[in-house]
Amino acid sequence: MRGTAEALPFASAAFTLVFARFALHHLTDPRLAVAEMARVCRPGGRVAVMDLAASTDPGTAERQDRMERLRDPSHVRMLPRGVAAGLLHERGLVVDRVTEREIDRPVQPWLEQAATEESAAARIHQAFVAELGGGAATGMRPHCGADNVLRFRQLWEVTVARKG
Ligand SMILES: C[S@@+](CC[C@H](N)C(=O)[O-])C[C@H]1O[C@@H](n2cnc3c(N)ncnc32)[C@H](O)[C@@H]1O
Repeated sequence: MRGTAEALPFASAAFTLVFARFALHHLTDPRLAVAEMARVCRPGGRVAVMDLAASTDPGTAERQDRMERLRDPSHVRMLPRGVAAGLLHERGLVVDRVTEREIDRPVQPWLEQAATEESAAARIHQAFVAELGGGAATGMRPHCGADNVLRFRQLWEVTVARKG
């Protein structure tokens, strides 16, 4: 079924498992979406969120979102590390587990995956190369290995909570 995350087209307590993957960073009100996930989960069930996580430094997070938005204009904002757990806790769920994984990504396939517009892709490349040369930080931790492939780092976070 297709619906909007902020008003799920399901009855309360309809599911034993509710899962959102790489979705919350597209929403202007992720708190509302998490509330909806909690609502449609039945007591004893689980709610899990997997998403990109931003830096807990607000300036760095803003720079990261700027780059992600340049790559994909439907990107709104990443939740900073640990904030998904806070939103689930706010809805009365018990957070069982938060796991993080640092992902080292080559830039080119990341851009191709989003079909990034050519001039935006060039600006991202320029910003990364400038940072490598000592220029302004993008928050994306670009680097270049021995293979000369331009890469950057993302933090992926998985939060699993239980409804009492
Ligand atoms: C990056 S894709 C992730 C797709 C899939 N969950 C996955 O992990 O491969 C983001 C998805 O969020 C959906 N989306 C964005 N805003 C939404 C909203 N307000 N309500 C429901 N879905 C939304 C988009 O349609 C898209 O399918």
